[in-house]
Amino acid sequence: MSEHHPSAAEGIAVIGGGSIGVAFAVLFARAGHPVRISDPSPDRRAIIPTEIAARLDGLAEHGLLEETTADIAARITTTDSVADAVSDAVLVQECAPERADLKRALFAEVDENAPPEAVLASSSSALPVSRFAAGLPGESRCLVAHPGNPPHLIPVIELVPAPFTTEATVEKAEAIYTDAGLSPIRVHGEPEGFVFNRLQGALLREAYCLVRDGVASVDDVDKAVRDGLGRRWSFMCPFETVDLNTRGGIESHAAKMGPAYERMGAERGQHDPWTGDLVAAVTAQRRALLPLDDWDKRVAWRDEQLMSNLLRTPDTTTEDHS
Ligand SMILES: NC(=O)c1ccc[n+]([C@@H]2O[C@H](COP(=O)([O-])OP(=O)(O)OC[C@H]3O[C@@H](n4cnc5c(N)ncnc54)[C@H](O)[C@@H]3O)[C@@H](O)[C@H]2O)c1
Repeated sequence: MSEHHPSAAEGIAVIGGGSIGVAFAVLFARAGHPVRISDPSPDRRAIIPTEIAARLDGLAEHGLLEETTADIAARITTTDSVADAVSDAVLVQECAPERADLKRALFAEVDENAPPEAVLASSSSALPVSRFAAGLPGESRCLVAHPGNPPHLIPVIELVPAPFTTEATVEKAEAIYTDAGLSPIRVHGEPEGFVFNRLQGALLREAYCLVRDGVASVDDVDKAVRDGLGRRWSFMCPFETVDLNTRGGIESHAAKMGPAYERMGAERGQHDPWTGDLVAAVTAQRRALLPLDDWDKRVAWRDEQLMSNLLRTPDTTTEDHS
């Protein structure tokens, strides 16, 4: 259990005020934290307040703020100094460009200047923290915390510790992000692409193959997700989907569909069969989340969700970039 009880009064430092940094600043300020953004570019620093105001206006228009945009924006300040930004932070969220040399230099500077109890997190999309924080005096408090884009609208955040990161660091990060409204997931072993991009990559690789082989157009592949898979994935995803697709749950689905999925994988040179042990492990986790006795009720819930989504009628007009 985490010993840390997050308080909205605690300061957050955002290092790098680009797309991700600005969105994190909005997220944390909306949750009540004072936020200090550091960016070496005077042009960026000059435009950050305008970008923050625009994002807050969007949230306000959709009724997503409990305070005025001015009150929230007033919690965010900018500086050109990393040392200044991190000086009283409980969490440092590094959002600088995706370069190992740059992140290594930044983490050394942050580690030297942040309070000893601060968590040092990188938004890195692909570089594992072991590539740029190994050997620092404070390496045990460093981890990757990879957001969706933009983090103030996409709640998932992947926590990816290195072998040298302590469990207490991960728990503290988890508590702070959860308190700010994010939905952290834990990734073990620093795999390339973590979980988010590996899942996205599996679908994208197949989408490219389908277009290459003339099986479907780009628009039709997108429609298959937008008007099909994505409808369910907006509120449940992929294990729960197939668990509810087949009476008897995911074990029954794997027995019926496993061989077909294995052949599809083999067609693409991938041999990762769903072995009996693996299906049993996945089934055990699903049954812990949803006992089979509740299956019918959950299927009815799924249909309720789909019906309320149909009422929203998303804007699916052809893109117009004019
Ligand atoms: N854009 C995405 O979809 C996305 C999603 C998740 C994670 N990320 C990751 O987030 C990080 C930031 O990405 P972004 O899209 O916001 O990039 P960006 O180019 O929009 O912003 C980077 C900012 O860092 C600033 N910067 C450069 N050197 C700096 C330094 N030494 N100290 C502090 N700031 C510095 C730049 O001036 C710029 O404002 C990257 O690691 C990226 O991989 C991006």
